[in-house]
Amino acid sequence: MRADAQFKPGLEGIVAVETEIAEPDREGGSLRYRGIDIEELVGQYPYDRVWGLLVDSNLDSAMPDPEPYMPAALTGNAPSDLQAETARLSSHWSLGKLNEISDEQARTDLARLSAQMMAIVAQSARVADGHTDVVPDDVVARGKTAAEKFLLRWRGEADPKHVKAIDTYWICTAEHGLNASTFAARIVASTGADCGASLSSAVGALSGPLHGGAPAYVKPMLEEVAATGDPEGWVKETLDAGRRIMGFGHRIYRAEDPRSRILKQTARELGSPQIEIAERLEEAALAELERRKPDRPLRTNVEYYSAVVLDVAEISPPLAPAMFACSRVAGWSAHILEQKRTGRLFRPNARYVGPAPRSLNGGTSS
Ligand code: COA
Repeated sequence: MRADAQFKPGLEGIVAVETEIAEPDREGGSLRYRGIDIEELVGQYPYDRVWGLLVDSNLDSAMPDPEPYMPAALTGNAPSDLQAETARLSSHWSLGKLNEISDEQARTDLARLSAQMMAIVAQSARVADGHTDVVPDDVVARGKTAAEKFLLRWRGEADPKHVKAIDTYWICTAEHGLNASTFAARIVASTGADCGASLSSAVGALSGPLHGGAPAYVKPMLEEVAATGDPEGWVKETLDAGRRIMGFGHRIYRAEDPRSRILKQTARELGSPQIEIAERLEEAALAELERRKPDRPLRTNVEYYSAVVLDVAEISPPLAPAMFACSRVAGWSAHILEQKRTGRLFRPNARYVGPAPRSLNGGTSS
């Protein structure tokens, strides 16, 4: 390794790839997919077509319906079911290695996997609800969009408010540049592994609370704050104890996270019972974070109002990471294809800072 090579913990600020997929506008507080602002997409196109925009750069293209497939062993823990089943699909479908298949074949594999991953999450959620049967195909087929079909496959019914909540959430979180899970997907894809291996690695990365798991913590937090009736006091106590407030702060955005703005509006429109306490806590948290960290803008991130919108659709906190994975299959798929085209294996360096050479006998080695 070059002696002058710089070490940046967390790779913050390091440009690891060039991408044509999404542009988070750091200062302007907007997010564009293939150049199109997500505010123009929400309510105009369903998630299935946004998948087409991200993967094929074409809003007339869409994610297909899932093929008939029976998951091997669903436990009802959706994130781990999803990770395991996605990896299993690689062998079940005999998917080819990315360095041996064409771009067209990789795109086909990713489309099949994306659709199936949504079905797996819906079926796992159904198991978690205590059902042992599956919803008949003709009932699921009544749905017009991926969000509607998802709910039908899960619950056998699809409340239009729930459909809107999920569709908006999925569009807002479909892609966001090189975050941890997307990087994981690209790293695995860069080795030439198949699309199932790349996507299941991404699911694992997304399950952590600092990335996709935060909404799971937001709902209990809102309930705790509502019980105290004192958001200001709760914020001070939390920060004094050295804890983080979930749903605030972002590596990229210094201005408002645009997804948070859209999701807040959706939560209001859908009559969320949590919107009032969420807005009160947000106000208290922003004021206190600003007072304590004037040099580090810590604004509301996507996870905060995602949790409120998911709650409208009666999605319980443990399911939140898997819901995030459902939306992110679009971004991950687009990135896996982009990575395949570069054909370059990731291989960064580590700087050794461990013990100096020493002998097993306790002395220094010569
Ligand atoms: N609440 C309180 N303090 C926070 C905070 C939060 N949500 N987020 C960051 N900070 C503080 C850190 O304690 C740190 O303070 P210090 O310099 O005194 O140690 C400072 O801000 C910088 O934190 P850092 O971890 O370097 O910021 P980051 O940009 O690397 O982190 C997140 C980004 C999202 C991981 C971080 O803001 C976080 O943990 N947020 C809560 C979890 C969350 O909402 N995750 C969803 C992400 S979309």
